[in-house]
Amino acid sequence: MAEAAAPKKLTIFDLQAKVDRGEKIFQVTAVDYPTAQLVDRSGIDCILIGDSLGMTALGYSGTVPVTMDEMIHHAKAISRAAKRSLLVGDLPLGAYHASTADAINNAMRMLKEGGTDVVKLEGGEDFAPIAEAVVKSGVPVMAHIGLTPQLVSKLGGFKVQGKSAETGVQLLKDALAMEEAGCFAIVLEAIPDRVAQVITDKLTIPTIGIGAGPHCDGQNLVLHDMVGLFDRFTPKFVKRYANCWDVIGKALADFQEDVHKGQFPLAEHSFTMKEDEYQAFMQKVAKG
Ligand code: KIV
Repeated sequence: MAEAAAPKKLTIFDLQAKVDRGEKIFQVTAVDYPTAQLVDRSGIDCILIGDSLGMTALGYSGTVPVTMDEMIHHAKAISRAAKRSLLVGDLPLGAYHASTADAINNAMRMLKEGGTDVVKLEGGEDFAPIAEAVVKSGVPVMAHIGLTPQLVSKLGGFKVQGKSAETGVQLLKDALAMEEAGCFAIVLEAIPDRVAQVITDKLTIPTIGIGAGPHCDGQNLVLHDMVGLFDRFTPKFVKRYANCWDVIGKALADFQEDVHKGQFPLAEHSFTMKEDEYQAFMQKVAKG
């Protein structure tokens, strides 16, 4: 029997084509093999291997401690699962800040070792030269401005950005600088919807919002947030589509109750031995 054809792998050009057709881009942050399989098979365009995995998968209080090696470890698992979605590998804090050489080396590592298709990096105007160098080295870059969690200390907390006229204009400058640097798309995180709308109108590359209102070209959510698999906090911009925390919690409680009551395992979960083998076995046991 002929094998089913492998799904067509999406490219950065497919994203732009979707926007040109007036369609939205879907991006979801996944952290491991099974979550990436679910996302890939659901038809989501881009899987982001985001450094938010520091919180959702590794138990850190933020993204600051996440290392390049940790990102690559997760990217490898995700790239084994994803057959169709474009894979976006986040460069963590410290991976691109000291020099363009660091940025290029770590972007190359993300592609070569992690198996991603492109990289993402946080930062606006100040990081445009770094982004440009990475793009010129041949690695497509998704930019990320607004609330940039790696710089949470500088921002004074996980706060909405661009709420004043002045900071809104700065965000527009940041976005234009990253487009000019050659980035193929840009994430807008936690910014007012009308600022995101203006940025989306002024840019030619797709904008992907997370907490940036409905006018962006696409939307990003973190899988653990949207399916309720993270118990610490849920940002205002998240819509929860399932409550996996409670589903898994109930399964764990039911398992304990079943074992306690002798209702698990039953015959259907057990392995049997033929009667004659069993009799011979018991004779041998009796003889010692
Ligand atoms: O790490 C992540 O999941 C992200 C998204 C919030 C855009 O950067």
